[in-house]
Order: sequence, then C-alpha cells, then structure tokens
Amino acid sequence: MQELQLIHIDKFFPPNTHACADVSLTVRAGEVVALLGENGAGKTTLMRIASGVTRPDGGSIVKDGERVVLGSPRDAIRRGIGMVHQHFMLIPRLSVAENVVLGFEEGGAVLDRRAMARRVEAFAAEVGLAVAGDRRVEDLAVGEQQRVEIVRALYRGVEVLILDEPTAVLTPAETEGLFRVVREMAAGGKSVVFISHKLHEVSEVADRVLILRNGRLVAERPPSAPLGELAALMVGEPVEAPSPSRRPASSEPVLSLGGARSRGEPGLRDVSLSVLSGEIVGIAGVDGNGQVALEEALVGTRSLEGGTFTLAGERLERASPAAIRRRGLVRIPSERHHDGMVAQASVWENLVLFDLAELGFARHGLLDVRAARRRAEQLVKNYDIRCGSIDQKLAELSGGNQQKVIVARELGAGPRVVVAAQPTRGLDVGATASVHKALIELRERGGAVLLISADLDEICQLADRVYVLYEGRVSQPVAPDDREQIGRLMAGVAA
Ligand SMILES: Nc1ncnc2c1ncn2[C@@H]1O[C@H](COP(=O)(O)OP(=O)(O)OP(=O)(O)O)[C@@H](O)[C@H]1O
Ligand SMILES: [Mg+2]
Repeated sequence: MQELQLIHIDKFFPPNTHACADVSLTVRAGEVVALLGENGAGKTTLMRIASGVTRPDGGSIVKDGERVVLGSPRDAIRRGIGMVHQHFMLIPRLSVAENVVLGFEEGGAVLDRRAMARRVEAFAAEVGLAVAGDRRVEDLAVGEQQRVEIVRALYRGVEVLILDEPTAVLTPAETEGLFRVVREMAAGGKSVVFISHKLHEVSEVADRVLILRNGRLVAERPPSAPLGELAALMVGEPVEAPSPSRRPASSEPVLSLGGARSRGEPGLRDVSLSVLSGEIVGIAGVDGNGQVALEEALVGTRSLEGGTFTLAGERLERASPAAIRRRGLVRIPSERHHDGMVAQASVWENLVLFDLAELGFARHGLLDVRAARRRAEQLVKNYDIRCGSIDQKLAELSGGNQQKVIVARELGAGPRVVVAAQPTRGLDVGATASVHKALIELRERGGAVLLISADLDEICQLADRVYVLYEGRVSQPVAPDDREQIGRLMAGVAA
C-alpha cells in the first residue's frame, strides 16, 4: 500500500513570495487527488517539491511511512513518484522512443532503434496512449508530446503520477483517453495528482479536490461539490463568466486566405478562409492537423508555397513578420516559450517587447525606459498579472501569469486582427474569463479574431463561425452550436 505524505511544506521565494505555506496533505494508494488554485497559488511549486525538482525550505516528505529526502527527480522516481510538467522536458532532437527509454534503461553499445521503438509503442498501447516510437519529438504537436511525457513516466514504473495541467493541451477525445488511463491507474492501486483549471474535468476524474490559495491549503471538497463553490474557493470570491453578445459582423473580410498551401507535417493544403471585421472565427481541430502551419503562415514566419493571403485589402504573401505586425496583425502564440517571450528578461521588458519603436518609447535610438515601465505597470494592472514587481524575471512567474503577460502585450497594442492560438491554455477560471472578455471587446470594437483552439468549449462559446482543420484542410464554415457536425469533422468522418 503506497502512500505519499507532505507534511508542513514551506517554500519561500525572495523577496516576497510565499509559494507554499505550511501545506500538509496525503495521497493514498488508488486515489485521484485534484489540486486546484488560481494562477500563482503554488500548485506547481508544491508538486515540484514532491517530485524532487525543488527543495522545500521546511517540512518533510514521507513515502510509505518512511521519511525521504528527494535530492533530484531521479531520487523521486526511485521512490515511485514522477511528474509530467506543465512545460515539457523532452529532448526535441531525439525520437519518441529514445525520450521514453533514455536515462532509464542501459542499452548495449549499439541500440536496436527499431526494436526500442516497437517496444515503446507496445507499452504505450497497453496503457491506452498512441505514440509513434520513431518520430522525432521536435516534429510532434504539443498534444502528442504530452502523451510521450506520460508514457515516459509510466514506463519508469511510477506509483504516484503527478500531472500538471495535462489536459490544457488535449482535445476532448484525448482528454477522455487520458481519464481512462488515470482511472485504470487508480483501479490498479496507483495514485494520481491532477492539477487543472478545468473544473468540470476535476469533478469528473477526481476522488478528492484540494484547493490552494496564496500558497495555503484552504479547503478539501468532494468532486460532487458545485463548480461555483470550487471557483469561489480558489479566488476567494464569486466568479462571473462573461456572456458574449453575438452581434452581426460587417461583410468586409479583414483577413483572408485563398487556396493557401505551405510546408509542414501537415502543412496547409488548399486552405481558404475569411474573417470579417467584428467577428470571432474559430478554428477547431485535433492538435497536429496543421494548426501550427496556419498560425505561422499568418504571422509570416512560414512562407506560403501557393495561394493568397490578404490583410485589409493588401496582399501579403511575401511580407516579413515585422511588416505584417505593422499592419495590425498580432498573435498570441501557441508555443509561448519559443515564440512569445524572453524568459530571462524582466516582466516589463516582455510587456513592451515589440512596441519599443511604435509607441514612442524610443527617442533618438534610445529607449525611453520610464515611459515603457509606466506602460508595463498599466498592463500589469489592467490584466491582473500577479508578480512581485515588473522587474522580476518572466521565468519566475507562474505559468498562467506568463501567459497573461503575452496576452496583455498583444491585445494591449490595439490590434486590427488577432491570431489567438490556444490563448487560455493554462489559465485559471478568472484569467480565462478575462482573456475571453478582451477578445469579445476587440470584436465589439470591430476587430477580427481568428481563434485557433483545441478547446471545443472555448470555440463554441466565443466563435461566430467555425472552421474545422483536419489534415491540413479546412471544412466549410459551421455554426458554433452544431457540435455534432464539428465533432464529426474533427474526427475526419463527415462529408
Ligand atoms: N523560481 C522562482 N523564483 C521566484 N518565484 C517563483 C519561482 N517559481 C515560482 N515562483 C512564484 O511562486 C508562486 C507560485 O507559483 P506556481 O508556479 O507554483 O503557481 P501555480 O499555482 O502552479 O500557477 P499556474 O496555475 O499559473 O501554473 C508564484 O507567485 C510564482 O511567481
Ligand atoms: Mg503551475
């Protein structure tokens, strides 16, 4: 009977963040424990401590009745505790199988790559997760990478699996698959700690719900607790979701693609779509069907091999990313770590990253630091970004707050068109509501939004029209309330 206990855990980040304050909890064999809390509540930090990534300042960890000191993730794995991180830790250049096996099995001098790939695939299939053993991780979409992370942990025989926002990158069908794996693990006597911002998922999969607020464990509830109550416990006050008011859009397309083709796996194959001014258009689809190619083609970092790209009447197939941005198209990138931020730079620098010249922070080639900082302070306030100060490194903010920095910078620039790719991935209920509100406000002002999201609820809630992306092609537009048709198109089974 394995059991993990965290006792009086404390973690302080100078100068003023008490990330974990006297947290005690027990995870028993065969149970699924959900950990809820706002962005910055301390969920990731607490679980990093439980999995040997971070050392606590105080408190102790007891595994199966024995006090343990976890000096590294390897130590933790040896004790049967493994974590799948919010931001993946895979090695991009290696294959799926190499990532799963590496550092765990000692191969001979010559690794039989084929056999290894097949072995990993067979193991993955056994736990209900499909992965292609010999593909390179760098070629995989995020959803696929995450499956590899989970397979990797299970392959190492963990008994307590910690999943940090695992469904943030999954489609509804993949999420269902993951929940089956989680339930099977629990039925087999293993335990799962499940961090999520999606309350309905938490009540679907968890046996117990723990709520953290400002580093403290403030409540425990059964999964049957009303969602409103859970949300209120997280933020300390009732949360209201914005109700989008659908209004007729103008008939003028601001953004359009005609027969667009691009490289990629898959790339765009004859994609035609349009977004009108005053409209939110959703791109639904399972991750890995060309979303990244679409996002990159629109911001100019992936060139089109054919077809047209028109922004406000101007043809931009050959335009540079900077030229496209100057014409008022901004993006919330799906890969924020790669495309959206400079992690080692400060919050304020990240908030004004692209705007230095345009907003007049640059005078005679010099940066007007005071004006830029004032602007950053204002964005921090408007978008409720939780940080110690604007001088803090972006890397030190919680995942959700990093995303808020990017959203604030992009939407705060007063754009004409936003390409929003997975814009609320990893955000808590309050922050998600505030991003949705910002997108709706942009629409009300006559802006155009292309919302690329694997979250079907989000698409159906916000979009005026929906295209489904499947194997690099888009469907005819579908009404957002026709979920059945959207689902069929996502699975590639509709006419
Ligand atoms: N290495 C670090 N240095 C300084 N502060 C940190 C560091 N890591 C985390 N923090 C701070 O600790 C607090 C808790 O962060 P944590 O990442 O645990 O939050 P979280 O609950 O996982 O949030 P999210 O839902 O956004 O992922 C935040 O205020 C964060 O800025
Ligand atoms: Mg986190």
